[in-house]
Formats: sequence, structure tokens, C-alpha cells
Amino acid sequence: MSLSFEGLRETEVKILRFLAERGEKSRVNDILEGTKIEYATLAKSIAWLEDKGLVSVERIELKFLFLTDEGKRYASSGLPERTLLRFLVERGGKATLNDVLKAGILPQNIVNVAIGWARRKGWVEVLKSNGETTITVLDYSPPMGPDELLLELLSKREHVKQSELPEELASTIDLLYKRNLLEKRSETDVFVWITSNGITLLESGVETDEGISLLTPDLIRTQAWKKVKLRKFNVEAPTKPVYPGKLHPVIQLINEIRDIFLNMGFEEIRGPLVESAFWNFDALFTPQDHPARDMHDTFYLKKPSTVKLPREDLVYRVAKTHENGWETGSKGWGYYWKTELAQQAILRTHTTATTIRYLAEHKAPPVKVFSVDRVYRNEKVDYKHLAEFHQIEGIIVDENATLRNLMGVLKEFYWKLGFKKVQFWPSFFPYTEPSIQSTVYVEEYRAWVELCGAGIFRPEVTIPIGVKVPVLAWGGGFERIAMLRLGLDDIRDLYRNSLGWLRQTPAIL
Ligand code: PHE
Repeated sequence: MSLSFEGLRETEVKILRFLAERGEKSRVNDILEGTKIEYATLAKSIAWLEDKGLVSVERIELKFLFLTDEGKRYASSGLPERTLLRFLVERGGKATLNDVLKAGILPQNIVNVAIGWARRKGWVEVLKSNGETTITVLDYSPPMGPDELLLELLSKREHVKQSELPEELASTIDLLYKRNLLEKRSETDVFVWITSNGITLLESGVETDEGISLLTPDLIRTQAWKKVKLRKFNVEAPTKPVYPGKLHPVIQLINEIRDIFLNMGFEEIRGPLVESAFWNFDALFTPQDHPARDMHDTFYLKKPSTVKLPREDLVYRVAKTHENGWETGSKGWGYYWKTELAQQAILRTHTTATTIRYLAEHKAPPVKVFSVDRVYRNEKVDYKHLAEFHQIEGIIVDENATLRNLMGVLKEFYWKLGFKKVQFWPSFFPYTEPSIQSTVYVEEYRAWVELCGAGIFRPEVTIPIGVKVPVLAWGGGFERIAMLRLGLDDIRDLYRNSLGWLRQTPAIL
């Protein structure tokens, strides 16, 4: 039987012979050692041989688990909730939060974490009375949980394959990952073996044919190129990965969203990050005692602690609208409006501050503007929350604008971003009436996910700034969309700038 091939290179024959001799699946590393062929050449040759059906290749992805530095520390000292429990047991089963803090058994910022977990695990109960928090032990010697067992296992072994873990431990991986105690790394193991065609070829005797892969000026000048055999290139053969410079994935997505808005006829607006409470809240008819203004949500600035208010007549109209409705047809909130509260300097909590600031200067319809920009809220940072994040926001000012138009525009916008199923629900915002909220269906989660708030600005918002036609407005989160697009399940990963992750993301999303 004769098989016809374009001729094999010496390296390819060498690999075939090596595989034929071993007669079994071989790891690329073994072939590397056995043939002493340089890695890049080996990888290319294997790709060629696979292409010609002379070898088969199997790629198996292996996931390895490692402890982070924090994980290593807890592996030896015990999880913080264990340390806490040990302390409480020593104290007879009970201590106040102050005692725990004073005892210095854990870093201050970890104490709450420890209490949270001890409570979740049913080890302790926490009671607050007269401003004092008491922690009482419920379970004096709980057995080691799967998280602790996994921690121990990982601290003993260098390389742990995820697939080799018993089920009870595997189910706790994500938990330790979210607590930042373990890291996952994946490697691909490549196995190669010779096919029956490969063996037949070897048995029938192969001739190597190097051919020529580089056309030199000499070959051209002497016309020798007409006679020599030129080798084909396999442009799909694997090579060493290259990591070109590129835009950060977050910037790429923001630019993509910009493009969608621009294509829909919107213009981009931007505004200050340091805002007055006036534009962030008052101009949006948000009452001065609204919980969102509370220290828990809003960052108030020390320096400067106040921001100059706009024109007096505008401030007057907003103030009166809050107090008694002014000429808006509303009764207002019925309190005495305080200038000092409106002057407070804050970090804007939503991009609607920038929208309303812009609207006060550009009232003549039609207006279609958007922003994709940074906002700040005093949130405890975890895998779902950041204190500094982005919002996507837009408004349409038009004499004939209706809620139906708003829903249509939102549907189109999110459709262009890749969300095909959008739903609307009634909602509430102090500055819109009616107010709606939209959710989109996300295949990956098999669930409806909240995307944005929207509505038509109330007369209490538009009339004081001199806008006489309907204003459709919406605003929503950017990071959740970015996480979905980039396949992340921890919001912090968007901004951790881990080099490994940055390298892996495509140069163009
Ligand atoms: N500003 C709102 C938020 O931060 C969203 C919103 C914008 C709602 C415009 C209605 C109109 O959640």
C-alpha cells in the first residue's frame, strides 16, 4: 500500500518513530525528552502530523488549586471564625464585641468577618442590647467543615487537581475562592499517539524531504526556485502565544456602549465626579431626609465640604418645589428646605446628577444625550459590590415622547448589547413618574437579571429648571454587563488587573 504525502521532515519522522516505539499515548513532555526536539518545532510538527492523519492528539484541561498567602496563613492558624470560637470557649462561652477587639486575637478588620461566618455556621449567636454586642457560643466543638478540610489538604500538597477532590470538598471550592483563600490555575495536558496510517507509513519506509521554506534572493536570481521544492506553510500550527498591547477590556466595552448610543443618535455628556447634593438629590426632587443621602450610601467630602450652588433663581424654584410644590402643581414635601444640605460636597452617587445639570442648560427639545461614567457609593466591597463603579444613562427630551417610546428605546439598546429578552416592571424613583425597572433574561444564569431604572421625569424636576416637555430617562449598572460579557463571577476581577487575566482576554472583544 502506498500513502502519498508531501514528504515528511526529519523531525516529523523522528516523532513518528518515537511514538511507534512507545506504542502508547505519550505526553508532549515525554516526546520532548525522548526526541530532544525544541518545543516550538515539536508543537508545529505534531500539528502537521495531526493534519495528515498520522498521529492523534487529545487535549485535557486540568484545574489545579493553590492557597493564596491569606489561605496559607489560615491553614496554619485556623480560619478566623475558628480563632474566634477558641477565644470564646476560653472565656467561658461568651464575650462582648469590645472584648474580642481588645484581645487582639484577630486583625480589627477581620473580626466582623469572623463573627459573620461563625454565625452562619451556627457556632455562635450574636445579640445586641443597650448598644453592646454579645457573642455567645452555641456549639462548643464543631467538627472541621469541608472548607477547613480543604484548606488543610491544600496546605499539605503542592499540586491538587480539582478533579481528584472528593465531592464534599469540591463543593466548597467556590466558597474559599470567594473568600480569597484559594486560587485556581488551569493547564492543558496534551497526549499524542500514532495512528494506523502512521504505522503503515513507517513500515512502508518513509523518505524525508526537507524542501525549502525560505525563498532567498539567491534562489530567485539563479532561477533555482523553479526546480526546488517549496514547503507549504501550516498557518494554523500552534506557536508561542504573543501578548500585544491592547485597550483594557472595560474600556473596550465602554467604547462599544458609546458606539451603540452614537448609532442611535445620542450625544455623550460628562460631568463632575465631585457634585453638590443639590444636583445629585435636590434638583431631582429627592427629599432632604431621604435614606439614600444617609452616610451609608453617600460619600461626603471633607475638603471641600461645600460646593457653590447655581443661579439663585433656580435654587429658589427647587427650594419652593420641595417646600410647597411651587408652580408645578405638586404639594411638595412640606418641610423647610435647607440650603446647607444642598451645598454639601459629595461624590456623585448616580449619573443622573450629570443628566439634570445638563438639562438645566439645554432645555430646548429635541435632546438625546447619554453618559457611561463613574459613580460612588459607600458599599462594603465584595464579589458583587464595589464602592466605585459605572452607570449607563440616557435621556430623550421630546414634545411627543411617551413611556412606550422609552421602553422601545431600552429594548433596542439592550438588544444591541446582546440581551434579546427584556421585561419591564413598575418601580419607584423620587424623580420619575411613572417609574419602571427593566430586567433581561441571561442564558448563563437561567435567570432574569435587573438592568436599569427608568421613567419620565416628574414635573417637580422639569418645571423648576424650565423644561416644558416630557423627558424620558434611564440609568443602570455597567459592571454586571461587563462581567457577563467577560465571563467573570467576581466584580473585583474587572479592576484587579491581574496580568494573567489581561493577557488572556482577546485583543479585540
Ligand atoms: N439614577 C437611578 C439609579 O441610580 C436610575 C434612574 C435613572 C432611574 C433615570 C430613573 C431615571 O438607580
